[in-house]
Amino acid sequence: MIILFDTDIGLGTPRAELDDGAAIVFLLRALGDKVAGVTAVHGNASLESAMNNSRRLLAYLERTDIPLGRGAASGLVEQKEWFAEWEAGYGDTPPWPPAQDEPLAANLIIDTIRANPGEVVILAVGPLTNLALALRLAPDIVGKVRQIVSMGGSFGQEDPQPEFNARCDPEAAQAVLNAGWPIQLIGLNITTQLIFTYDDFASLPDSNPALTLLKEQAPGWIDRVVARGWEQDGCALHDALAVAAVMDPSLFSWQQTAVTVELCDPERRGATYLQDTETGHVAVATAVDAVRCRELIWRYLAA
Ligand code: RIB
Ligand code: CA
Repeated sequence: MIILFDTDIGLGTPRAELDDGAAIVFLLRALGDKVAGVTAVHGNASLESAMNNSRRLLAYLERTDIPLGRGAASGLVEQKEWFAEWEAGYGDTPPWPPAQDEPLAANLIIDTIRANPGEVVILAVGPLTNLALALRLAPDIVGKVRQIVSMGGSFGQEDPQPEFNARCDPEAAQAVLNAGWPIQLIGLNITTQLIFTYDDFASLPDSNPALTLLKEQAPGWIDRVVARGWEQDGCALHDALAVAAVMDPSLFSWQQTAVTVELCDPERRGATYLQDTETGHVAVATAVDAVRCRELIWRYLAA
C-alpha cells in the first residue's frame, strides 16, 4: 500500500480548523513508511496557508523527504474562498520555506498512481478539487488506484445540510464520487461522534513541535466551534477518522451504494444524497465504534 494525503490543512494558522494537522501527525506516526506524497488544497485556509502549514508540519515531523504537491486555490466552478468567511478571526500563517521542488498536486497524484498500479490509496480530507483535476487530466487512473478514503458529506438525515468539504467544491465531489473508482466515505454524522476536549489537548506531551502547536491552537478552535454551536465541550477531529479507516476499516460499518451531490439549488449546493442502489462504487460509513476509534487515534497522537 502507498498513501497520498490530500489536505486543506489549517493547523499553523491560528484559530483555523486543526483536524487535518492532527490527522497528518497520526498518519505519519502510524503509517509513515507508506506515505509517498502530500497534496495541499484550498478549504480550511487559503492554498498558500495550506502549503505553509504542510511544509511546517512535514519539517516538524522530520519528513521533508515526502513530496508536497501544490493544488487548487479554489473550486472548479466557484471562485469563492470559503475560509475568508472566518478570516476576521484568523491569525497570520507564518511562512515556511519549501524544502524541495513542489510539483503540481494533480501531476503528483497521476504519476504516483501510474507508477504503482493497484497500490495507491488516496486519503482525501479536504475539498476534492485536486482529485477531480487529476481525473480530468488522466481518466486512466480510475482503474489503477487501489482505494479512495475520504472524509466528506453528511448522511443519515432526511434533509442533509451541505458538509464543508463537499460545499467548497460540489462539482469536484460529484465527479470524484461518481468516477467509478472504489471509495470509502466517512461523513460528518460519523466524525462528530468522537469529541476531543480542552483537557485532552492540554494533556498532549511536548514530544514534538507539531504536538505543541496542536496544544497551543486547539483552545482557539474549540472556542470557535462551541460558540457556533457545531460541537459541545470540545471539537471533532474529522479527518483523523479517515486515517483510522485506512488502518482498520473494521472500526466502521459500511453501506455499499452510490452518492450524488446537489449542484443546482444555491441553498443546498454540496448536500450529499445516498442513492437506492447496492451496486455503486461508494462505501459510506454508517456507524463507528467510537471507543476503539478514539483509543486508536489518541494512542498515536499522545505518544
Ligand atoms: O466537515 C469537516 C471537514 O471540513 C474536515 O475535513 C475539516 O478539516 C474541514 O475541512
Ligand atoms: Ca480537512
